[in-house]
Amino acid sequence: MKPSEQRRALDCAVKAARAAGKIMRANLSSSKTVSSSTQHDIKLELDVRCQKLIENSLRTPFPDVALLGEEGVAGEAGAAQRWVVDPIDGTVNFTYGIPHACVSIALQERSADPKSAGFKDGYETLAGVVYDPFCDELWTAIRGGSARLNGKVIHVSKRKKLDEAIVSIGFAKSYESLRSTLPYFNKLVHRVRKIRMMGAAALALTYVATGRFDAYIERGIRLWDIAAGGLIVECAGGEFWRESIPGEHAYRMIASNSLLRRALRVPV
Ligand code: IPD
Repeated sequence: MKPSEQRRALDCAVKAARAAGKIMRANLSSSKTVSSSTQHDIKLELDVRCQKLIENSLRTPFPDVALLGEEGVAGEAGAAQRWVVDPIDGTVNFTYGIPHACVSIALQERSADPKSAGFKDGYETLAGVVYDPFCDELWTAIRGGSARLNGKVIHVSKRKKLDEAIVSIGFAKSYESLRSTLPYFNKLVHRVRKIRMMGAAALALTYVATGRFDAYIERGIRLWDIAAGGLIVECAGGEFWRESIPGEHAYRMIASNSLLRRALRVPV
């Protein structure tokens, strides 16, 4: 996709994220209709409504670009480009009225060399948008450019010492992820200044990009949680390490300011 098209795509994604964010803001304190739930996860009717809105806003101007979202897919599987969308990242926070949740939209392109592509099914992220409607914070990046927060260029932190670092950990939804993350947490908690578990992976990534967190770690995360935020971390000068694990679009990952990467290990 040409740079001018990428720019146009980013503008459309920003509009779509703001529109979905408006719905989130209007509904934060309302009681919400739960479509389904498990012990560690909730799906809302609003997740689907926000994804539909994003889908309409993006697929009308870009009909050939497919969409892979947490709430389903649209368009051709294997399309040259696709949107990767989490309409509400941090759904549990949002359901309980905790204003820490966001919209995450990435634009990805199928790589000419799928084996060396950043994601296991052969795609690379070209552009990313993460919008926190409660703080009105909008992060954007286009591959090869700067990462920005509300239009201003941002950088990862410069902290080199683990004992001064704030590291965020995500506890995913599965038994497997909890089983492997808890011992890791137990060790790390004594070595860093603070551990934070905020419940919205895309925001944790943008916090790394902004230098608020020094690293974010999760095992068992899904593509739509990390596609936009991962690029934003890279464009802010950080490192976004990920490896595919069994499960559809599932990864384990460490995002960091890159200086702390060696001191951190990901739960296996
Ligand atoms: C979840 C959140 C959470 C992370 C989970 C994600 P969702 O996304 O980002 O922080 O730990 O792995 O699945 O379900 O709220 O969109």
